[in-house]
Amino acid sequence: MEHKAVLLTLLLYITAAAGDVEEECADLNSNTWQEYRQQGLQLQVQYLLLTRINMDCARTFSQETLTRSKHASLFNASRPTKVIIHGYRALGSKPSWVKELARALLLAQDVNVVVVDWVYGASFAYNLAVENYKEVAVQISILINQLQKHGSELGSFHFIGVSLGAHVAGFVGTLFEGKIGRITGLDPAGPMFKGADPFDRLDPSDAQFVDAIHTDSDHFGISIPVGHVDFYLNGGKDQTGCARSRFPSILVYFPVYGYVICDHMRALHVYISALNGSCVLTGIPCFNYDAFLAGHCVDCQGVFKGVCPRIGLSENSGIAVSPLPREQKLFLLTTSSSPFCAHHILLQLEVSRLDKSAELEVTLWTEGLATQQRLRLQTAVTAYKAVLAHPTALCEIHSIQLRNTGARFYRQGDVHVKSVCVAQFPTLRPEEPLCVNNINVRRGAPWSHDFVQVCSGF
Ligand SMILES: *[C@@H]1O[C@H](CO)[C@@H](O)[C@H](O)[C@H]1NC(C)=O
Ligand SMILES: *[C@@H]1O[C@H](CO)[C@@H](O)[C@H](O)[C@H]1NC(C)=O
Repeated sequence: MEHKAVLLTLLLYITAAAGDVEEECADLNSNTWQEYRQQGLQLQVQYLLLTRINMDCARTFSQETLTRSKHASLFNASRPTKVIIHGYRALGSKPSWVKELARALLLAQDVNVVVVDWVYGASFAYNLAVENYKEVAVQISILINQLQKHGSELGSFHFIGVSLGAHVAGFVGTLFEGKIGRITGLDPAGPMFKGADPFDRLDPSDAQFVDAIHTDSDHFGISIPVGHVDFYLNGGKDQTGCARSRFPSILVYFPVYGYVICDHMRALHVYISALNGSCVLTGIPCFNYDAFLAGHCVDCQGVFKGVCPRIGLSENSGIAVSPLPREQKLFLLTTSSSPFCAHHILLQLEVSRLDKSAELEVTLWTEGLATQQRLRLQTAVTAYKAVLAHPTALCEIHSIQLRNTGARFYRQGDVHVKSVCVAQFPTLRPEEPLCVNNINVRRGAPWSHDFVQVCSGF
């Protein structure tokens, strides 16, 4: 049915457009240093519109075209509207990911996608871009007022702001007193916002629902929670597959820019991937990342009544409880490439009392894929827990290996393992953990065990 409707609209559109001169597709601006110097503080905000009818050919969109031009007919006020706002553009270049995000949104939902192009105001000097962000928000609010007159409802707007764009979205939300439907912040900018008043930055009062993904909270991103729920990927600081940044300041070294912003841009790439729906990324509430890694938080009972919030377009991130929580930190581990979903495995180990400290290396195997964890064993402690990110589900793990790796640093000889167990979380269905009991792990002699199990479908 839906496909027919799209086809019909497409035909109508082609027929309507046939008589007109063909227009080129619109694109975002890019800004050169020279232009920037000449134009000074002119913002020159422009809007682009993409819909399922023109998924690959953006049209410029403004208050004037809304009432007059045929492009306005592409905008359907009965449909929800996604507003994409980019952030700081250090080199004045246009953000290359906009089309990919717009496309992923349109494939997921039949919506209007409006792209806010404020490259001119966002280029080069970060502090000046920060000075501009409220003015950009005011301009956007004028467009939203216009779209409301055209029939759009405030609750049907979903702003997706990247980095500084998240705070632009937050200020639009402030101007509409929190009545906008949703704001998603993709690694909301940190520099100059960390200590800011909630009025000046994205916060849960800016929309009916605010979600944020944090991936670089120690450099370009903000570390504090800013939404109803805040997903901290891999702790929210350093991402798997990104080289560790050796530049502790916010200074931008031009030749290594892409390298420096790898962590920061990961939020966007994970979000785009989540829209595709090939796997589910759920966050687990916990006080902090260390507690999460230590296996203290393994389900979504309590505040979420058993349903873990998920990254993507589900209403309120899939949260069923009311009232919504605020500034709730959620943690999850990811893999280093698309679609980024990892399976959370809880490793539990119990050893006999040791006379000297020791170290064990635990490896989980699925075909050629291995996940490793080193555990430092102390004399006073006999029970250990750790959380691992494995690329496959628990039922696909075919073996576990333990190695006594402490020989070089510790004097301990054999380690007697009373039990080693692996379980997956959060579980939809509580399953028995896989356990092996009573193992002696000798130095220089790795121990391994094959699990005989099958994955049964749900
Ligand atoms: C606008 O969207 C609504 C809801 O999806 C749909 O029923 C209607 O046909 C659309 N109008 C046009 C002109 O495409
Ligand atoms: C989702 O993305 C994966 C690659 O990341 C791709 O193989 C798959 O075809 C995509 N699925 C859809 C429905 O677009």
